[in-house]
Amino acid sequence: MFARRAGWDLTPNELSRRTEARRARGLPVLDLSESNPTRVGLRAPGEALAAALAAAARDPAAARYEPDPRGDPGARAAIAAYHKEHGARVAPEHVVLTAGTSEGYAHLFRLLGDPGDVVHLPAPGYGLFEHLAALEGLAAERYPLRPPREGARWRVDLGALAASLTSRSRAVLLIHPHNPTGSFVDPADLAGLRALAGERGLSILSDEVFADAAAPGAAPPSALAGAEEGPLHFVLSGASKPLALPQLKVAWIAVAGPPAARDEALARLEFVADAYLSVSPLLARTLPGLLAARAPIQAELRERVAGNRARLAAALRGAERAELLPAEAGWAAILRVRGAEDEEALVLGLLEEAGVLVQPGFLFDLEAPEGDASLCHLVLGLLPEPEGFARGAEALARFLAAPAGRG
Ligand SMILES: Cc1ncc(COP(=O)(O)O)c(C=O)c1O
Repeated sequence: MFARRAGWDLTPNELSRRTEARRARGLPVLDLSESNPTRVGLRAPGEALAAALAAAARDPAAARYEPDPRGDPGARAAIAAYHKEHGARVAPEHVVLTAGTSEGYAHLFRLLGDPGDVVHLPAPGYGLFEHLAALEGLAAERYPLRPPREGARWRVDLGALAASLTSRSRAVLLIHPHNPTGSFVDPADLAGLRALAGERGLSILSDEVFADAAAPGAAPPSALAGAEEGPLHFVLSGASKPLALPQLKVAWIAVAGPPAARDEALARLEFVADAYLSVSPLLARTLPGLLAARAPIQAELRERVAGNRARLAAALRGAERAELLPAEAGWAAILRVRGAEDEEALVLGLLEEAGVLVQPGFLFDLEAPEGDASLCHLVLGLLPEPEGFARGAEALARFLAAPAGRG
């Protein structure tokens, strides 16, 4: 009855099932996996949103509907200014609004691939993108990121990526900075990716939703910088991460590349966007005010994330089995744990015995380094309220400090 691409296995995984069962029994869950910024007691995003909505309600133009397939011109001008502050030049007419970054991916996959064509995604990575590709009939191939030997940055294995390209390859996705590793794409890797994409006729998709989650001045340039030549570049971002307002559902694609190809891509992207006109012009009109007011939002986010990372590091001091991997940006932390036999058993044990919820690394394709199958990865969200986070981190550390082999 249903299409093959809708043939998902919808059974909840064991961790979700047991978490729900625990909650149903009234047992506490110390949730160290939360990544929804609207559930963690942040103050600044809600205040900025209330002010922006009040301003929109007073604006007589809000009563009119003048659809523009690329999205509200004022919002696009504010997005161009946002990228300029990040050192990248993009004109407002080279921006297309979307209802969330996820829809941006859908539009791009429709633009770039026919059913059976391939997009290349980083591994480790976040599972959403594979689903978004599959929903548009595209296949996803993973290319490896190599863990840092020193410092914090994971590096693209360009040789492995090149070897996996075929005549069906259409695009390479970069997550810049990456979720959950927190690594920016190294400028040398970006140059190599550009050369490869140029040679093989691929587009570069650069997801930069976490770009503001680095310490100010610490971020390498956006993929938009220096993208006037070579392959087409599509940079995705939106309100969900930079403004911590996923409920706004306003995001964007900025297009860069050689002018003729860029304009051709934009005309076709406009056609896709016009078919849906999915972005609420009313909400898009709040974006200039929100982007202008983003400094306190980003300060609060950075303080929360850095504070929780420090709390986690402090709690783990006695847990020699665990190593907190360094990160440059983002809202996640990766823990490497030695001496556990099985990652799933480890997260289930943590839940049942310590009441702590974290995500297993396999959900993000985090693999044990070669030659050390006993290394597991746990992925934590660094957004939760500090007090609850500290309690969870301490319970996690106590569990891990117990004799090796647990889990
Ligand atoms: C790297 C990255 N890009 C995009 C998204 C989806 O963002 P949106 O809420 O704008 O669809 C996520 C969600 O967590 C993400 O981690």
